[in-house]
Amino acid sequence: MNMPTETPIYIAGHRGLIGSALVRRLTAAGHRHLITCDRSALDLTDASATNAFFAETRPEYVVLAAGRVGGIVENQQFPADFITSNLAIQLNVVQAARRHGVRRLILLGSSCMYPRECPQPMKENTLLSGQPEPTSLAYAIAKLAGVQLCLACNLQDGEQCFIPLIPNSAYGPHDNFDLGSGHVLASLIRRFVEAAQQGAPSVTLWGSGRPRREFVFADDIADACLQLLSRDISKLELPVNLGSGVDYSIAELAGKIAGFVGYTGNVVWDSSKPDGAPQKLLDSSRLRDWGWQAATGLDAGLHETIAWYRSNHVQEEQACTHQ
Ligand SMILES: NC(=O)c1ccc[n+]([C@@H]2O[C@H](COP(=O)([O-])OP(=O)(O)OC[C@H]3O[C@@H](n4cnc5c(N)ncnc54)[C@H](OP(=O)(O)O)[C@@H]3O)[C@@H](O)[C@H]2O)c1
Repeated sequence: MNMPTETPIYIAGHRGLIGSALVRRLTAAGHRHLITCDRSALDLTDASATNAFFAETRPEYVVLAAGRVGGIVENQQFPADFITSNLAIQLNVVQAARRHGVRRLILLGSSCMYPRECPQPMKENTLLSGQPEPTSLAYAIAKLAGVQLCLACNLQDGEQCFIPLIPNSAYGPHDNFDLGSGHVLASLIRRFVEAAQQGAPSVTLWGSGRPRREFVFADDIADACLQLLSRDISKLELPVNLGSGVDYSIAELAGKIAGFVGYTGNVVWDSSKPDGAPQKLLDSSRLRDWGWQAATGLDAGLHETIAWYRSNHVQEEQACTHQ
């Protein structure tokens, strides 16, 4: 299957971490008809507005990279917002895509969907075999529903139109570096850059530092999405995990970031704070056997992300565009 460069492709959530990487990747591949729209002009939790947008813009391909996303603090504070927003966005976008004849749609799941005590590395067929980590349960349930929505549509319609893709922890340029709502890697970059600037004698971090996490560079996720939109997927079993294949303890990650930003003080672990799941490493052999694997190692991705953080503090202003 080929995807001509003039094909209309809608990237929902184009200003976010993964959505902005998709815009970069598709643009670099020569795609000229990218459809994007800011949340202020289209709230995807609004079903009729979403449907009207699809009717007007007629995308043939869609990547759903919009959603309510956050770290452990926000997940615990706003579980109702996480479940309602993500359920609504997924349902509205998938329904609109089905109604308006979208050829292929990628819906992004999350490794939070896996059982907390899942055997490692986590295989797709262990989804729903146990209880997800309680601190992000509402988000996980919404994401599980999104994956099942895709699979149910494919089953009923007799074609692999809806692709549930499950990336592990994403990072890269345009990540959320807010200490309250961001994920661990971006928060660590900000904490260590600020501590280095201020000459702080120590940095106190949440938890024990022992949990192990797998990080995927957002540009690698974007590349996988491009391949999944444009290549034959008839032999690919769904859903499909997307990881880098290597996990690191949070203490190892903190050590790398501190070294890269030149922080020489102490790291103190506040073990009164929750750790979350002990390990989250995906088995990405389905995607690897299909012929794709992540290209960016953690060190290279961290250097690029730190450089971006250092030189970008102001978000660009963007409106709706149908290029
Ligand atoms: N980050 C990760 O580690 C990770 C890992 C696996 C899967 N995922 C999934 O990948 C997707 C994208 O994640 P991300 O990290 O790129 O998120 P992000 O950086 O927070 O970006 C989310 C995007 O969604 C948009 N959005 C949120 N609510 C919306 C609404 N009601 N209507 C329209 N747009 C809305 C945001 O718009 P504004 O710019 O206006 O806020 C933003 O552009 C999510 O579904 C997430 O669950 C993320």
